[in-house]
Amino acid sequence: MKITTQSEKQTLNLGKKIAKQLKGGEVIGLIGELGAGKTVFIKGLAQGLNIKKTITSPTFVLMKVYPVKSCEAGSPTAKFNRVNPINNLRQRRICLGRKQSTINNFIHVDAYRLKSAQDLIDIGIKDYLSKKTAVTVIEWADQVKNILPKNRILVKIKMGRNPNQRIFEINNQYGKSVRVQRT
Ligand SMILES: Nc1ncnc2c1ncn2[C@@H]1O[C@H](COP(=O)(O)OP(=O)(O)OP(=O)(O)O)[C@@H](O)[C@H]1O
Ligand SMILES: [Mg+2]
Repeated sequence: MKITTQSEKQTLNLGKKIAKQLKGGEVIGLIGELGAGKTVFIKGLAQGLNIKKTITSPTFVLMKVYPVKSCEAGSPTAKFNRVNPINNLRQRRICLGRKQSTINNFIHVDAYRLKSAQDLIDIGIKDYLSKKTAVTVIEWADQVKNILPKNRILVKIKMGRNPNQRIFEINNQYGKSVRVQRT
C-alpha cells in the first residue's frame, strides 16, 4: 500500500488513523533517511493512542516506554463523564463501540546510533517485541532487521518530488482504509 502525504500534518494524521487499527502486539519498523518523517509518523501513532506526553526522539536513550490507557487505545468513541443510566452515577470514563483495546505500552526505539542489536536485547527489547499488550515502533529498523519478528509491519518512507512530499509504503493492510492522497 502506497500513500503520499503532502505535509507534516498529513503524516501526523496518517499515523493517527493507523493507530486506531492497532490491536496490540504489533511491531512497526520504520525505514527512511534522515528527516524522512519517521518521528512525525510516530507522533501521529501516539496521538492516535491518546498518549498526551510529547514524543521526542529517543536517540540518546535508545528506547522510551509510554503508558497507554487501555480504555482509550483503539477506541475512538471513548466518552468521558457519561452518566450511567442504570445507577445514575457519573462515570469517569467508559469505552463505547469497539472492544476495549489491550494496549498498555507504546515503545519507541531509535536504532540510528546503535552499534549492535545486542544493545537493544540487553535492555529488554525482546520482552516488548513479543508482548500482546505493547506496540513497538522502531526508527532505522533496517539496522536491527534480525531481531524483528516475522510478522513485523514495515513502513518505508521516501522523499517525494516536492520538499513536503513523502511517500509511505506499508507492507500490510494498515492504511487500506486511510484516506489521504494515494499514488
Ligand atoms: N509530508 C511530510 N511528512 C512528514 N514530515 C515532513 C513532511 N514534509 C516536511 N516534513 C518535515 O520533515 C521533517 C521530518 O522530521 P522527522 O524528525 O520526523 O524525521 P526522521 O525520519 O525521524 O529523521 P531522523 O532520522 O533524523 O530521526 C520535519 O522537519 C517535518 O516538518
Ligand atoms: Mg526521528
